[in-house]
Amino acid sequence: MREPMRVAPIELGDRSYEVVIGAGALALLHGRAQLVVPGRRALVVADAGLPDRVVTLAEDALRSAGFGLATRRLAPSEEDKSLETVRSLLEDAARARLDRHDVVLGLGGGIVGDVAGFVAASYRRGVHVIQAPTTLLAMVDASVGGKTGVNLRVGERLLKNMVGAFWQPRMVLADVATLESLPPRHLRCGLAECLKHGLIARTALGDAGADLFGWTAEVGPGIASGDLTHATELVARHVEVKAAVVRADEREEDAGRVSRAILNLGHTFAHVLEGLGDVSPDGDAASAPLAHGEAVALGLVAATAMSGAMGEMAGAEIAEVRGAVGSVGLPVSVEGLPRAEDLAERMRDDKKVVGGTLRVIAPRGIGRAAVVVDPPESAVLEGWRAIGAG
Ligand SMILES: NC(=O)c1ccc[n+]([C@@H]2O[C@H](COP(=O)([O-])OP(=O)(O)OC[C@H]3O[C@@H](n4cnc5c(N)ncnc54)[C@H](O)[C@@H]3O)[C@@H](O)[C@H]2O)c1
Repeated sequence: MREPMRVAPIELGDRSYEVVIGAGALALLHGRAQLVVPGRRALVVADAGLPDRVVTLAEDALRSAGFGLATRRLAPSEEDKSLETVRSLLEDAARARLDRHDVVLGLGGGIVGDVAGFVAASYRRGVHVIQAPTTLLAMVDASVGGKTGVNLRVGERLLKNMVGAFWQPRMVLADVATLESLPPRHLRCGLAECLKHGLIARTALGDAGADLFGWTAEVGPGIASGDLTHATELVARHVEVKAAVVRADEREEDAGRVSRAILNLGHTFAHVLEGLGDVSPDGDAASAPLAHGEAVALGLVAATAMSGAMGEMAGAEIAEVRGAVGSVGLPVSVEGLPRAEDLAERMRDDKKVVGGTLRVIAPRGIGRAAVVVDPPESAVLEGWRAIGAG
């Protein structure tokens, strides 16, 4: 991992910040935290899956910069990405006497980052948050752009990210050296979001995004096998896509040239798949349920097939997407799905349903995507069948 550090600016007026990407970025907490945070107390919300040395590195960097610390380790699960967890962290913040000038550090994957961000957005009506993502998915996606929140359980249903706030971090430190301990399954999940960015990169960046899908497909298999030679460049190029979309439509108001909703490409399908607890990526019951990134991968294949059925994707492009997803070891179809008609019905629970009308993000060739309101039922069914639904 000899790549130089990269800095990506997120330009949002007085909420602007930098994403620092590279091996060793976490140690920069020492020099940079006091520049972006006026207070001197920090609540560190650290992922329980991280090696102790990573948590200690962050704690030492903050301590040597003069911060008093309280640390809470959190075992991430979608079930515990909840208001109960937020409540207990708010109590930790109060116990540690954080005031409005102080900071919450989210050190971990997307779950820890989303929860830590929401705690920061809520405590005393908002304190600072620094995000230090440690999964590939959180580096390229969840840590950037200010969406924070938790899930809501209503009876049998776990409604994903149903409660939350837009709350931009003061800084993001994506230390790619932390990926060395990330299990391969989660490296693959991050690559699913990278392929998604590749599929929207022209819409987000214009011609500069033209080769992103192809390049990601090229380096993806190496990353999936744990070779992190190109990790900094990968994260930097994908943060650029996220940054451009967030800059164009920070709060998903859908008013400008680019809608933030396009970041949800594949997700309307994926959210349904995530609700199916017994489906596994490889047919082995032990690996059920699907992880978020695996569901997104299947969602990309389904959305691409849907677009094909609507005449918006050529056969070769559909095959290219399926090939790229499969070549990084992500599932392109799964066993044990309910009937396509049942799955299509469940899509209507999604947050993207507005006024009873389904809105799905559809690729328009490789690199471009658009919000499709009320897509033809037959095309949606075609999408579900492409990933194995009967
Ligand atoms: N806010 C946003 O814009 C946004 C965008 C995309 C996804 N998300 C959310 O992100 C979540 C998924 O995030 P995720 O994929 O990072 O999953 P995750 O947070 O569940 O982390 C995956 C696993 O990796 C472990 N882990 C984390 N870093 C590690 C490391 N360096 N070494 C070893 N193990 C490590 C964790 O303990 C966990 O078991 C979902 O809840 C999703 O809704 C949010």
